[in-house]
Amino acid sequence: MDYHVRTGDPARQATGCLVVGVHSDRKLPAAAQAVDQATGGALKRQLTRAGFDGATGKTLMLHELPGIAAQRLLAVGLGDAGKLDAKAQRKAYGAAGRALATGSVADALVALTADRTSVPARASARDLVASLEEAVYRFDQLKSKATPPKVPLTRVTLLAADRTAANALRRGLAEGAAIAAGTRLAKDLGNLPGNVCTPTHLAAEARKIARGWRKLRVEVLEQKDMARLGMGALLSVARGSRQPPKLIVMHYRGAPPRTSPLVLIGKGLTFDAGGISLKPAADMDQMKYDMCGGAAVMGAVAACAQLDLPLNLVAVVPSSENLPDGNANKPGDIVTSMSGQTIEVLNTDAEGRLILCDALTYCERFKPAAVVDVATLTGACVVALGHHASGLFTTDETLAAELLAAGEQTGDRGWRMPLWDDYQDQLDSNFADMANIGGKSAGAIIGACFLARYAKAFPWAHLDIAGTAWRTGNDKGATGRPVPLLVQWLLQRAGATG
Ligand code: BES
Ligand code: MN
Ligand code: ZN
Repeated sequence: MDYHVRTGDPARQATGCLVVGVHSDRKLPAAAQAVDQATGGALKRQLTRAGFDGATGKTLMLHELPGIAAQRLLAVGLGDAGKLDAKAQRKAYGAAGRALATGSVADALVALTADRTSVPARASARDLVASLEEAVYRFDQLKSKATPPKVPLTRVTLLAADRTAANALRRGLAEGAAIAAGTRLAKDLGNLPGNVCTPTHLAAEARKIARGWRKLRVEVLEQKDMARLGMGALLSVARGSRQPPKLIVMHYRGAPPRTSPLVLIGKGLTFDAGGISLKPAADMDQMKYDMCGGAAVMGAVAACAQLDLPLNLVAVVPSSENLPDGNANKPGDIVTSMSGQTIEVLNTDAEGRLILCDALTYCERFKPAAVVDVATLTGACVVALGHHASGLFTTDETLAAELLAAGEQTGDRGWRMPLWDDYQDQLDSNFADMANIGGKSAGAIIGACFLARYAKAFPWAHLDIAGTAWRTGNDKGATGRPVPLLVQWLLQRAGATG
């Protein structure tokens, strides 16, 4: 999609569809007011006749309004003027996006950002792009006959109140476009089935991304490289698979080489059948999404490159399948991780922590300023938090505050969970340094506690995205979360947020 910013009188702009806001009780913000005047009050009359009350997220498409240059007008409910915060605004933007995407509109002029609200123009523009891109997203690359919309939305212009607002909108647009590109990449990879999106495919995609950006370089560690490094935990998971595992490392260099990098680690389990501790058949197809953490960190790196952020960033994606096989991990097997710590694999389905622990140890070599790992780690996290928030685990108060704030700012929220040492005993093993599972209680915390044992050399946070990375039901598919949270955090760290 093409985005532009313009100032001027909304009534006089030629466009396929002019988008204006309407508050509760049909109170009109300034831009809509100007349009109503130009139409000689026809806008308000039509809204009244249609019973359009301006409730947040309601929309109404109007045709042939007199006195304005736009062919059509989309009224978007914004709710009570006094209650219009970023969350309500995102809901309204989402509804506007869906109405435009399904309404045979090719180009739109959006005046929703032309009024002063409590939400800064820059954040509004960012959220608008995210909502529009979400609305137009389709995944039909594997349908033999794709049915694209007859009139796709391709050009969106934001109307600004003045030059200062226009500049803020432009910055927000650039950020929104980068976040949306990263999110789209994560969704596409997530939606691909396990027979297409293998570790080898993920590695090839990482290389493809890197070709687009001069500051990006990719390195892929093969099985033999991992064996040389002693990554016995990661390699043990791959034993049950015919697909070779990969450790994908993406380096983004936006700051001098001596600046310590931020590191993102993403679980890249391209299909999780559970291994010998086989999962039940129902909904097992969803385990193609078990690489969504890896896809999200790849998307975040791509966004970082697109924004040319002045920081160093490394993304590490340990990637494997987890399948049952004569050569696979068996319950009770003991493996030695790269850190030297031994692990009793009491349940082969707790494989995410096995591939992540070696990735954590591996990234010590980068002397990271901070490490954030992102993983569809536990079903227990879905039980605890549902599908609204990712689980955030860290003992670092600074990281916690930063990541929670980034989530709030983008609507891609995390929620802090405890990571107290009190839980660590649950991982005790009679035969190895630790077990890979810890009983029935506190499953999400135990997963995080396991990882914590490998993350002592740097400030570290863990995001469990099992409940947020994809949707089930009618609109099933990958969400691209937490790319918005991660990119917003990177923007903050780069000192680029105002
Ligand atoms: N990839 C799954 C986690 C998962 C399960 C995410 C269901 C979303 C929905 C992970 O590898 C896993 O299987 N975890 C086990 C851990 C258990 C054996 C301690 C789980 O959650 O059941
Ligand atoms: Mn599993
Ligand atoms: Zn898994």
